[in-house]
Amino acid sequence: MTVTALIVAAGRGERLGGDVPKQFRPLGGKPVLRWAVEALLPHPRINSVRVVVARGQEHQAASVLDGLAVGEFIEGGAERSDSVLNGLAAVGTGTVLVHDAARPFCPPAVVDRLLEALDDADGAVPVLPVADTLAEGGAMLEGHIDRKRLLRIQTPQAFHVEDLLYAYEEAGRSAATDESSVMLAAGLNVATVEGDPALDKLTTAADWDRAEAILASRLVPRTGMGFDVHAFAGDGPLMLGGISVPHGRGLQGHSDADVVLHAITDALLGAAGLGDIGEHFPPSDPRWKGASSDIFLAHSARLIGESGGVIDHVDCTIIAEEPKVGPHRSAMRERIASILGLRTGQVSIKATTTEGLGFTGRREGIAAQAVASIRMPF
Ligand code: CTP
Ligand code: MG
Repeated sequence: MTVTALIVAAGRGERLGGDVPKQFRPLGGKPVLRWAVEALLPHPRINSVRVVVARGQEHQAASVLDGLAVGEFIEGGAERSDSVLNGLAAVGTGTVLVHDAARPFCPPAVVDRLLEALDDADGAVPVLPVADTLAEGGAMLEGHIDRKRLLRIQTPQAFHVEDLLYAYEEAGRSAATDESSVMLAAGLNVATVEGDPALDKLTTAADWDRAEAILASRLVPRTGMGFDVHAFAGDGPLMLGGISVPHGRGLQGHSDADVVLHAITDALLGAAGLGDIGEHFPPSDPRWKGASSDIFLAHSARLIGESGGVIDHVDCTIIAEEPKVGPHRSAMRERIASILGLRTGQVSIKATTTEGLGFTGRREGIAAQAVASIRMPF
């Protein structure tokens, strides 16, 4: 039986707030939706992953899922149940695992348990016991509830597509916040399997902070250094720190010869243990002739993000008698921060001369040294 994971990501994330719906927001450096897809995509029992996104957000979803095999996006609806129903229509048949994008971490063992339980039931859901004491009431307590029989229900939830479509038809979609309630309302049975705290939904700011803290505790700090030199040749302007600096002389190189971006790129690759710039962008490759070096820098940032890492800070020293760096420092910091997706405060640019000594002192070229501080999964 074909198993499709159907991830609903068409909500507005109003309870969490912020400018971007939570599924697109980076958590520990990686967008929530990407975490959710990456958690299910490699599972050996899952044949395909489909994603439901709100109309107009396909572009954003494609960008956060770049390189992942999720097929065509399915258009979401006004309520979660509308999004699920659109998804079911697109999936058509087989077994479906309906999952919230807002639950970024799904342990593979939960999927195994769900699919096994589905052999003997119409549906299967992951559940956890309730830890707090429970009661009814408002300003005053009215009465306690025995929590022993109560369960917290998570996603993914496993069903046969036809059964779930039937259940929605019988029970209607009105108050459904999940599929198991629809199944029960239609008289079908749903088995429970052990859930996992990692599957708790990101609903409020407190949930988000907790998830960030868990991820941060799995990251360790790492440092990388980079160094680059380019010789002066020809007329200016020259590319330095990602901006065009008006100057009588230019720099010579296979690409645009931006020593600052090259040194920072190498520092980032070094911190991540991912080789060096020449390995990723060989000077022998005609594709990089005259290339704008922001491509190299953005690539190193993307690789770190894909490894689950985050960039904390980059610091670069430009070693040159000319041109004067001071007037361009702010523009360089802003440009580098924008390429790396950082705040300007996370980028530092300094400059020094070598008091007339050496090749930089003789005004033959410019050197740059960089240090990058990142955090990577242990
Ligand atoms: N969802 C959806 N379509 C909707 C509403 C919700 O696909 N019309 C998805 C959300 O993107 C989320 C999951 O359903 O992955 C669980 O919903 P919830 O946590 O309520 O997310 P939001 O609706 O986005 O948040 P809020 O209710 O706070 O606005
Ligand atoms: Mg909602």
